[in-house]
Amino acid sequence: MSLLARALVPQFQRPRGLLGRVAGFMMANRPSNRRRSRWTIDLVDPKPDDTVFELGCGPGYALSLAASRVPSGTAIGVDHSATMIAMASSRLRRLMKTGRVSLYQGTEQRLAGFAGTLGVIYSANVVQFLADRPGYFRLAHDALATGGRIATTYQPRTGNPTRAKADRFADTCVTAMAAAGFEAINKEWLEISDVPAVCVLGRKPA
Ligand SMILES: C[S@@+](CC[C@H](N)C(=O)[O-])C[C@H]1O[C@@H](n2cnc3c(N)ncnc32)[C@H](O)[C@@H]1O
Repeated sequence: MSLLARALVPQFQRPRGLLGRVAGFMMANRPSNRRRSRWTIDLVDPKPDDTVFELGCGPGYALSLAASRVPSGTAIGVDHSATMIAMASSRLRRLMKTGRVSLYQGTEQRLAGFAGTLGVIYSANVVQFLADRPGYFRLAHDALATGGRIATTYQPRTGNPTRAKADRFADTCVTAMAAAGFEAINKEWLEISDVPAVCVLGRKPA
């Protein structure tokens, strides 16, 4: 791995400064990232009046797609990186002015403020970074309205990325989601670049 690539890898977990902006540019423009984002949102299929929450929204590409799917709802993006919130704010400025998009610097703990009100929660290449994955799915379950959907997409990018690695990660999500009370849990696969992406979907029982 080149020196530049080695310096960039941690920027995908907590982007900051100039290198963080380079990572953010890649997140928003890499064709496989864009396709993965579109696919995730298609799978979780927001209703026009849903309140949609994205954890780890990065530079806001997926959130702009989600906002276009909820013309009478709201799209909320949360990221712990100030650099990403600044990039997402530039991309989404117009929608933020209309009140249809809100951005917050924070973590999954932000979910605690939404008790039973969210229609959809989704993320792409974020949940693998969380220290307490079962805790995240419990928070998400509490934040969703009954019948609300969750999607967790993962595509391994570093450290010998393989389909088997993606599948092992997906299985830890399946277990944590079942323990948190989700139903209709299933895995979907997207054959993309050299390693596929997996999305684990579930629903809060009505
Ligand atoms: C690999 S990037 C993916 C960005 C975007 N979802 C995409 O698919 O292009 C991971 C993002 O999650 C954010 N992130 C990582 N851990 C987080 C946490 N605990 N809470 C909020 N954001 C987090 C990072 O700052 C980064 O923007």
